[in-house]
Amino acid sequence: MESSRVKRRRLLMVPCPYQGHINPMLHLATFLHQNGFSITIAHTFFNSPHPYRHPEFTFLPLNDSITADHVSSWDLASVLLAINENCKGSLEEAMAAMAGGDGEESSEVVCIIHDELMYYCEGVASRFGVRSLVLRTTSAATCVSRCAVLNLHAAGFEEEIPAELHPLRLKDLPLPATSDFTKFHELVINMYTITTAKAVIWNTMPWLEPSELNQIKAKFCQIPIFPIAPIHKISPTSSSSSLLKEDSTCLSWLDKQPPKSVIYVSLGSVALLTKEEVEEMGWGLVNSNQPFLWVVRPGSVRGSDAIELVLKEVEEKVGDRGCIVQWAPQKEVLGHGGVGGFWSHCGWNSTLESLSEGVPLLCRAFSGDQRVNARYISCVWGVGLTLEGELDRKEVEKVIRRVMVEEEGRKMKERAMDFKRRIEDSLKEDRSSSCDLKDR
Ligand code: UDX
Repeated sequence: MESSRVKRRRLLMVPCPYQGHINPMLHLATFLHQNGFSITIAHTFFNSPHPYRHPEFTFLPLNDSITADHVSSWDLASVLLAINENCKGSLEEAMAAMAGGDGEESSEVVCIIHDELMYYCEGVASRFGVRSLVLRTTSAATCVSRCAVLNLHAAGFEEEIPAELHPLRLKDLPLPATSDFTKFHELVINMYTITTAKAVIWNTMPWLEPSELNQIKAKFCQIPIFPIAPIHKISPTSSSSSLLKEDSTCLSWLDKQPPKSVIYVSLGSVALLTKEEVEEMGWGLVNSNQPFLWVVRPGSVRGSDAIELVLKEVEEKVGDRGCIVQWAPQKEVLGHGGVGGFWSHCGWNSTLESLSEGVPLLCRAFSGDQRVNARYISCVWGVGLTLEGELDRKEVEKVIRRVMVEEEGRKMKERAMDFKRRIEDSLKEDRSSSCDLKDR
């Protein structure tokens, strides 16, 4: 009798456990699942995705040994190095079990797709003779500038910034958050040195960063690159990969606002603020006279005890003109007709989500790649203004009005709408490049 067991093509996908990395990986997983693959998501306990939201995937927890001390230190480089160190054995055991098992779960893993920061997967793929692909979740300009930072550091920061980084300034470069350059160096070298992966999937568009992608291909990436951004648009899904609960009441609040009148304010999943910064933001928003939707993430304010009072005062003053939530369904918010501007920290996902909906940005970068993205938004693509230096409510008020009501804001909006159209067109045309992925 013929065996009923059919070997299905299973992909093992390994996100980096931060929101800005989980989202693009799970969107890619949805796309690949819709194209006939079985998907296993191998994840850490730390910042674990919610399996019940994705019944179509199998979830495989890995023993990360991340301690509360690691997490509370906010030393991202140390956490990432520890995950690469600690998860390898656990993933190898799981691979061995999958290869030897004989149930549905044993279906053969044909490829590992891992986040660029989860480079330990390369060794696991090689050991089991499985192909691997890397998913890059930050911009090509970030890759170029991180590598430049290593060279500048080696030269004691005494050299000029290389001309190909134009218009980035020294202060825009993605320098490490702590003074510990050794950890940053180790991460950058490991994430960009590819010796075994078959190809790179990049959450960018070839026409958005053509010279940066060409530099990368010419200098250090000899394997095929598939730029398939914006990943969140290639496979629309209703299931959310948010770690925090989204407050959808803000959508009905948005329904009541005039078209394009609302400034949406959200600083992503890792930025930290001081109480003073929150006060200046809040009163600047109030005084701008624009309707606003403001996300104040739990734990995002250092010493956040006093913050409740500030938010309460702002809410009382502004009444129905403002809406404050802890976490929003951001993609829906940006696609809502009531939103006319996005005050963002310029994480790469937020940047692509804003461009995809034709929403101009007010850029307030905090760390790492955000400064690079902010500079591109304002000086290369012309779709945003940058708010730098110490936050001051008068300046906040002024800059909000520049984006939302003044002529320069209108021009930025037009350019942002051009990006939206171009993205829509390329999504229609570029199906072929993403289809190629299926054959890799
Ligand atoms: C981190 C880094 O900070 C960022 O610079 C890097 O590019 C990716 O990793 P994060 O700060 O969280 O990411 O920013 P971002 O890349 O913008 O990702 C945040 C994600 O959370 C977005 O997909 C956004 O839609 C989502 N989000 C944010 C919500 O769903 N609701 C919110 O209220 C805020």
